[in-house]
Amino acid sequence: MGTRAQSAPPRLVKTGPSTQLLVDGKPFLILGGELGNSSSSSTAYLQPVWPKLQAMHLNTVFAPVYWELLEPTEGRFDFKLVDELLADARRHQLKLVLLWFGAWKNSMSVYAPAWVKTDPSRFPRATDAQGHPQEILTPFSAANLEADKKAFVRLMQHLKQTDSRTHTVLMVQVENEIGMLPEARSYDAAAQAAFAQPVPEPLLTYLQRNSASLRPEFAAQWQRHGAKTQGTWTEVFGPGVATDEIFQAWYYADFTNTLAAAGKAAYPLPMYVNAALNYRADRLPGQYPSAGPLPHLADVWEAGAPSIDILAPDYYNPNFRYWSDLFTRNGRPLFTPEIAFEPGDDAKALYAFGHYNCLSFSPFSIESTDKPAQEPIGKAYDLLQQITPLLTKYQPLGAVRGFLQAKDSAAGHATLGDYRFTVKHDYTLGWAPDAKKPDWPLAGGLIISVAPDEFYVVGNSLVINCEPTAAGKKAGFVSIDEGRFVNGAWVPGRRLNGDQNHQGRHIRLEPGSYAIQHVKLYAY
Ligand code: DGJ
Repeated sequence: MGTRAQSAPPRLVKTGPSTQLLVDGKPFLILGGELGNSSSSSTAYLQPVWPKLQAMHLNTVFAPVYWELLEPTEGRFDFKLVDELLADARRHQLKLVLLWFGAWKNSMSVYAPAWVKTDPSRFPRATDAQGHPQEILTPFSAANLEADKKAFVRLMQHLKQTDSRTHTVLMVQVENEIGMLPEARSYDAAAQAAFAQPVPEPLLTYLQRNSASLRPEFAAQWQRHGAKTQGTWTEVFGPGVATDEIFQAWYYADFTNTLAAAGKAAYPLPMYVNAALNYRADRLPGQYPSAGPLPHLADVWEAGAPSIDILAPDYYNPNFRYWSDLFTRNGRPLFTPEIAFEPGDDAKALYAFGHYNCLSFSPFSIESTDKPAQEPIGKAYDLLQQITPLLTKYQPLGAVRGFLQAKDSAAGHATLGDYRFTVKHDYTLGWAPDAKKPDWPLAGGLIISVAPDEFYVVGNSLVINCEPTAAGKKAGFVSIDEGRFVNGAWVPGRRLNGDQNHQGRHIRLEPGSYAIQHVKLYAY
């Protein structure tokens, strides 16, 4: 890579079916963890945390930057914490994704500095339908936007000055889990005035230009009311809380976009927003944090916030596939900024990078472990780190498949090269002592095809059968070698045969093995 690619800031590029994050000219997979909310407010508090992160093979830390501490007095900025964070990350060979806890954090505005929070006549609040003010800055206020934007731009300018050569900071999250409560929209005076106005032109144009590819539930809301191309919010989307939420989402997106565009003008890092997912289908807008970058509002957010590169889910329930499928509609990349730090993350990480070509994985409150060296996520990250060059080379060619197997999963199937693979949880063999237990841990992995008959199989607790795509033939193993990639070069260990491949019947990644196996097949 030339010097230009090396000095360019991290950036997102579309490569074949996948989106890649290029850092110093090379595709980078974020093997991350997010710090607890208050952890990066003290440099000293983080000191014992850094070695833990290294022991778990993280390459990136998601760390908040707090508006209240960055600009404690209006117009006076204190970058000490940010500078120390960058210095410590570099000392520990870690990258950073910075989380801007600005106007909104989990719907609320608790990270706004005191001079903002205590002056509601200058920095107005969202209100409920009865006019009661909430601890939420309204997005319908130029003063709120201006104040938040000024601080955010100062942060980006500072990153440009201090990090544009080193690229320790890879991306920035704008705000955190934006959402409206306890109503689907605000009823403050400016919001009321905006609600009486026609739907803004850019959203109407977007609807018409993209009518064939709108997410179906959003298209249905528009079509149910006549697919109108002009009118007020209630005329275009109908009366009710669903329309209230669309309206509020548009103005949240617009506010966030102004921030992101101004921040990128200072220093153009990729930027994303994260969503608090609504796990209960029976809850109406206003009953869950509403109007954030949720799947049913993705079109509104994409239309309103073109400077935001990615809408990202925060996973705090088991339906990993369901939400990932929703967030990757229309070819959008999967980016995981937060997932509950719990058993099964290792399998989900391997699956997410293999199946969704995801850009990032990141358990929340990553520093909370006392046994970092034993954490399964660290074992999965060790594998993913080793195979990053291979994965990022073959993902754009469509030559990678991921698997996630629970006790009740149907077998996974994939055709790669000249072979078809059937992937099951290892416990289906009945050989592992724990296979008799009622609960099985999640198993995950991936297969990379480097030639029509040559594969790397990566993961844990899976058993895999192979058959040729050519009719009437069976598959045999030329060889199976376990091994590791050391600085990108394959270093084989044992030749696996006999009991280890059940006398040529299958590939087995034994429970707890977190293995890479190099497999060559032939047909007979
Ligand atoms: C999601 C938020 O984005 C995080 O900051 C944190 O509050 C977790 N929820 C839960 O602890």
